[in-house]
Amino acid sequence: MKRLAVLISGSGRNLGALIRHCEAGHIPARITTVIANRGDAYGLQRARQAGIATRVLAHGDYPSREAFDAALAAALDAAEPDAVALAGFMRILTPGFIARFSGRLLNIHPSLLPKYPGLQTHRRALEAGDTEHGATVHFVSEDVDGGPAILQSAVRVQPDDTEESLADRVMQEVELKIYPQAVAWLLRGELALRRNRVVFRDRVLDAPLGAEALEPCFR
Ligand code: GRF
Repeated sequence: MKRLAVLISGSGRNLGALIRHCEAGHIPARITTVIANRGDAYGLQRARQAGIATRVLAHGDYPSREAFDAALAAALDAAEPDAVALAGFMRILTPGFIARFSGRLLNIHPSLLPKYPGLQTHRRALEAGDTEHGATVHFVSEDVDGGPAILQSAVRVQPDDTEESLADRVMQEVELKIYPQAVAWLLRGELALRRNRVVFRDRVLDAPLGAEALEPCFR
């Protein structure tokens, strides 16, 4: 059984999906730790209810980004993760941290990257008049929200969408499906990062995989 660590800052809906798919055996792993940078992150309760060990490392307690990341790396190393999933973890990580976990470090971002890295992605998609919006799972590189994309899927933007309705649809129809799938591939050894390119089942990807690649249990 592989070991998964999850880093969160907030409500932890993506964490919840990872927990469910680990419990169902679709992801061949056990979540060995959930670490939050805020003690009030609701995802901590989801983890505790599932019997998962939690840690809070409040970034404000550390004098620098480097010191925080060193503490985070030490906490992760203690959990011996085969993969680390950033799931709504709202901290930019230092190059040293990223290098240490490179190839095992995934993020989910609520946009069709390379569109809209950073914050307020739903508002930006609406303001731009986009007809489609979605989310992307990518390997984490030093480039914020810019690491090699693995899996991406879209929903149609509806004329009456608000930021909230669009965010909710992207979460339910895209994020909660594509993240567990990508984590499962990584932990099964079907996915790798080589020379900053995504290798999926021994083939270098020229573009991210799409919704059609989802296995039935992740749809
Ligand atoms: C998600 O939209 C994720 O893509 C983004 O932050 C949000 C976290 O939501 N990075 P949750 O904590 O998983 O509910």
